Amino acid sequence: MNQLHPPVIDTPIDPAPRRPSRRSAVVPIREVGPEHRERIARHLLALDEHDRYLRFGYAAGDAQIRQYVDGLNFERDHVFGIFNRRLTLIAMAHLAYPNDFASAGFAEFGVSVAKHARGRGYGKRLFERAAIHAVNDGVQTLYIHALSENTAMLRIARQAGAVVEHAGSESQAHLSLPPATFASRVSELLADQVGQVDFGLKTAASQARQLLATVQEVRAAVRDGQHRSDV
Ligand SMILES: CC(C)(COP(=O)(O)OP(=O)(O)OC[C@H]1O[C@@H](n2cnc3c(N)ncnc32)[C@H](O)[C@@H]1OP(=O)(O)O)[C@@H](O)C(=O)NCCC(=O)NCCS
Repeated sequence: MNQLHPPVIDTPIDPAPRRPSRRSAVVPIREVGPEHRERIARHLLALDEHDRYLRFGYAAGDAQIRQYVDGLNFERDHVFGIFNRRLTLIAMAHLAYPNDFASAGFAEFGVSVAKHARGRGYGKRLFERAAIHAVNDGVQTLYIHALSENTAMLRIARQAGAVVEHAGSESQAHLSLPPATFASRVSELLADQVGQVDFGLKTAASQARQLLATVQEVRAAVRDGQHRSDV
């Protein structure tokens, strides 16, 4: 963090957002593992320069993004994703733990939503999904690094009750999390199941579409063959 300016602490929530949002009540979110590395890379590589700057704190180049993705430690950290019906990862969150988590007790949250999918509440839902996981993991404080210009991210953090400290162009939000309860565990279990079922249905639909396309290709080839033999 840039400490040139003394930090200014604030908590107020910005007035009405500039962007109208299209929200749906349930957003299926799935925890993703190493088998989704390529999808994660594609999602991050599609971010433009400014978004990369907002996400990583610097305008990460393609090689740096590849390095970040290759270095994701799925044993220690958690990555949550939202997929569209073509199984493209359109939004993802990274809940990162320090190596000494047992004594440190904190985690860090990072998120990105594909441009075309913004303003639908995905960023906020991913934050909630990661936060409930963090609660169940015993995280005491969740940190979010954001640029001070990042109204959407800071809004999500403030709405969750985080304290935001500004230090010049950068801000750091920290949210104190409550201890895990039976309800928090059940709520995560349900969220997991919704995410799994949604991914399963989308996978089946995608396979059915591919099968249909193959059948149509075969039919067209047969028709073509018949047509030629008729001539
Ligand atoms: C920050 C980001 C994840 C937000 O994702 P999103 O899905 O568009 O956010 P949501 O739709 O959940 O909106 C969250 C809140 O911010 C508000 N908001 C969204 N875009 C906004 C904008 N451009 N200006 C002001 N407020 C905005 C929403 O209205 C919503 O507030 P509400 O619940 O009171 O209506 C997304 O803009 C992004 O990927 N940015 C690039 C990467 C980045 O900045 N990551 C964060 C740093 S780790």
